[in-house]
Amino acid sequence: MNIGIIGSGGREHALCFKLKQSKIVDKIYCIPGNAGTNLIAENLDIKTNDFEKIKKISIEKKIELLVVGPEKPLVDGISDYFKDTNIKIFGPNKIASQLEGSKTFTKKLCKKYNIPTSKFDIFENKESAKKFLINSVFPIVIKADGLAAGKGVYICNNNSEASIAVDEIFDGRFGKADCVLIEEFLKGEEMSYFIITDGKTFKTFQTAQDHKRVGEGDVGKNTGGMGAYSPSRLINNELQNKINEKIIKPTLKGLDDLNCKYVGFLYVGLMIIENEPFLIEFNVRMGDPECQTILPLLNSDLGKIINGCCIKKLSSIEISWSDKKSLCIVLCSNGYPDKYDKNIKIENLKKIKLNENSVIFHAGTKLVSEDIFATGGRVLNVVVVSNNFTESKKQAINILKDINWTRGFYRKDIGYKVIF
Ligand code: AMP
Ligand code: GLY
Repeated sequence: MNIGIIGSGGREHALCFKLKQSKIVDKIYCIPGNAGTNLIAENLDIKTNDFEKIKKISIEKKIELLVVGPEKPLVDGISDYFKDTNIKIFGPNKIASQLEGSKTFTKKLCKKYNIPTSKFDIFENKESAKKFLINSVFPIVIKADGLAAGKGVYICNNNSEASIAVDEIFDGRFGKADCVLIEEFLKGEEMSYFIITDGKTFKTFQTAQDHKRVGEGDVGKNTGGMGAYSPSRLINNELQNKINEKIIKPTLKGLDDLNCKYVGFLYVGLMIIENEPFLIEFNVRMGDPECQTILPLLNSDLGKIINGCCIKKLSSIEISWSDKKSLCIVLCSNGYPDKYDKNIKIENLKKIKLNENSVIFHAGTKLVSEDIFATGGRVLNVVVVSNNFTESKKQAINILKDINWTRGFYRKDIGYKVIF
């Protein structure tokens, strides 16, 4: 079958790379894709929010199944848009996508179904929020309600920082705000846990840990993710069982009670405290760069898995994984996550020779004739799979040294918690 992949980041290149290996996939179209997807599939220059054009081109190109990479089209209802067409769509509908699109929706669900998460309150104006802060214990976490591209979360160490956060959110820094969330600060170690579901059955889809801060030692500004490794060092059978029983099953039950079946990947952001899971956030998609890190470990046919979800037959599909260790380092443009130059050539990329345990996924790149140019903040993802994280990291760094892109930078300490 012909498949369409919506999105243009490293995650979508990784999905494309893996779907290309599928026995049931003929042609892949990426909407709009990047230079990496351009080399293995056909890019279509259509915006991810133009559902009408996506539908038109899908009919024209005989696309039978659309895989949605990023959250925005899902939160905007792309799955609902395709519901009554012959085109299958992999990704949750608008109601379910509130798990990411509205933090208050998720917190209320947690409360109703007794899902472990930090204590929280919701405030509808500056005055009530600030009054609450006077007697609060710090640090405290203040969050904007809607999608904020990972930027709507403030960890505040004192009342004056918290007051600034409340002002910024209500003053519209992340769009119109009807409320803020103030929640207890959880001290533990973060882990990302993934599942895939067809609305009837769910299966786990690996674990990972990522590095969100721009600077080595996990300091500095938040980014989309500077690197990741999989599996997480925290996962064990007991913890997995607790996550499934205390978080995943009640969440899917909660959606079911809203008459809503979740089809797609679900990214469960957790704080692990003494082998107990606490929900920090849901994302209604794969993580980026977690997807690039995890997919090279997948032994099964991704096309069959995704199609199986769309036809509600996930229960009959086996998902098997390599037991090796995968590590991904992200190469960024100098200046990221603030201002950076665009349209800079990456000279050496074409000369890089990779062995079969390594892969480079593109993110913000474009192909101009034969040359590859950086167009985004996160540019390339170098992923290596080997028997241990130390070796994977060593090889990834060697590849980055060969690329030797002087207009970019990368963190040299990815995976430091699992590398000794
Ligand atoms: P979110 O967008 O909700 O994932 O938050 C972004 C980041 O803020 C998370 O990855 C955590 O590092 C941190 N964070 C969010 N909520 C909490 C919390 N309640 N306690 C501690 N850290 C948090
Ligand atoms: N790596 C974090 C995310 O995808 O949201």
